Amino acid sequence: MSESIVIIGAGQAGCQAVESLRKEGFTGPITMVGDEAYPPYQRPPLSKAYLLGTFERPRLFLKADNYYAENGCALIVNTTAKAIHRAERIVELQDGRKLPYDKLLLATGARVRKLNCPGAGLPGIHYLKTIADVDGLQAVFQPGKRIAVVGGGYIGLEVAAVGAKRGLDVTVFEAMDRLMARAVSPQLSAFYADEHKKAGVKLMLQTGVEAFGGDGKVEWVRAGGLTYDADIVLVGIGVIPCEELAVHAGLGCEDGIVVDQNARTGDPHIWAAGDCTRHVGREGHAIRLECVQNAIDQAKHAALAMVGRHKTYSEVPWFWSDQYDLKLQIAGLARPTDTLVLRGDPANRKFAVFHLRDGKVAAVEAVNAAPEYMIGKKLVAEGKPVDAAKLADTSIPMKTLG
Ligand code: FAD
Ligand code: NAI
Repeated sequence: MSESIVIIGAGQAGCQAVESLRKEGFTGPITMVGDEAYPPYQRPPLSKAYLLGTFERPRLFLKADNYYAENGCALIVNTTAKAIHRAERIVELQDGRKLPYDKLLLATGARVRKLNCPGAGLPGIHYLKTIADVDGLQAVFQPGKRIAVVGGGYIGLEVAAVGAKRGLDVTVFEAMDRLMARAVSPQLSAFYADEHKKAGVKLMLQTGVEAFGGDGKVEWVRAGGLTYDADIVLVGIGVIPCEELAVHAGLGCEDGIVVDQNARTGDPHIWAAGDCTRHVGREGHAIRLECVQNAIDQAKHAALAMVGRHKTYSEVPWFWSDQYDLKLQIAGLARPTDTLVLRGDPANRKFAVFHLRDGKVAAVEAVNAAPEYMIGKKLVAEGKPVDAAKLADTSIPMKTLG
């Protein structure tokens, strides 16, 4: 009899695993369990075009409705996996059902980090992770409303940009001294701060939120000792990996389910992929990546390993963010000690910052600069020495440098 595979988490990585398992020739039954009401969908548009209203809901879904049935995948939605019984190889669901498995993939993603200051539970305080979250926000996301955005990271700034575009009065409260500090260089932070200010967004840096208050719903925010009126609050202060199932099953977890280069956990029958994992990246350090690229690539590697073919996961991580008419694309992981090379002029809103380490490109941040991003990503992957002066010279076409 053919083996059966169970996937916990019906998101980006879970969906990719179904596709890859079939592509790699796995013919046994697959069951995918998800605790949301929907089949797998892409999250990036949620804080961008979907919130703006220019991206229709059906386009969010990663596959057509009939895909799962046609590909022999039993999709169970609205259902939480409660426990993994490793000795019996059974996944126990919240509703009491028990799913036996030969191989198991954990693709549980990450959940939003919540604020716990006074008033944090008031109605009108929103988080953004799911379709349901955007639908809840949309109802109040109206021109003229004052929105307090807590967190100047990817989510906060994408929502701020959409809010400014939609005519909301936007104030961003960021605990650090610069925007997107986790993800970009100080040069990029400064550029994006200018762009947001030009769009009318008020930026309060080094300003943690202390409390919320209001009569039955949020009406004000206290931050940095001052009180600001607000009709809506949107919190985007990072995520926490969903690793509890793995922890309780005794699998190794260190702020993420620990997996090897083939996405396998310490149990030879269990793999994990996506935001819920921690793996040793191509630079030799344990990292937890929170991006579509990692969810897709790690799921592909897990699927390969599950059918007995192993390929070391060492893909270059890449990320993007849309804010206003600016497309930010990043490849590789920068370090503060890298030597920075600027190509192009930020004043033209089209430039790239290359991060050089030992004379090689370790990372590239490109704004409205697709060739710089694409060739930069190739240079990161190849790890060949580069000429910094040539990289900075816009009269030399990027394609001749790759
Ligand atoms: P998810 O897609 O989160 O899927 C995990 C699923 O598992 C969820 O549905 C979860 O509810 C479910 N689950 C968890 N525990 C259980 C359980 N016990 N039982 C059943 N189901 C369970 N990345 C980019 O690279 N670029 C972007 O521009 C970008 N924009 C984003 C915008 C937003 C608003 C958000 C929220 C994220 C964005 N990301 C972006 C991040 C990207 O979406 C994630 O990295 C990606 O979705 C991770 O895929 P995943 O499969 O690991 O997790
Ligand atoms: P983030 O980690 O990108 O940013 C969180 C920000 O909140 C940081 O700047 C941090 O300093 C700040 N912060 C933390 N605590 C705070 C506090 N108490 N008060 C004020 N500021 C505080 O996380 P974010 O933006 O919430 O995104 C969540 C997830 O969604 C991440 O996994 C992210 O990668 C993903 N995402 C990715 C996008 C992309 O790649 N373009 C777009 C949107 C989301």
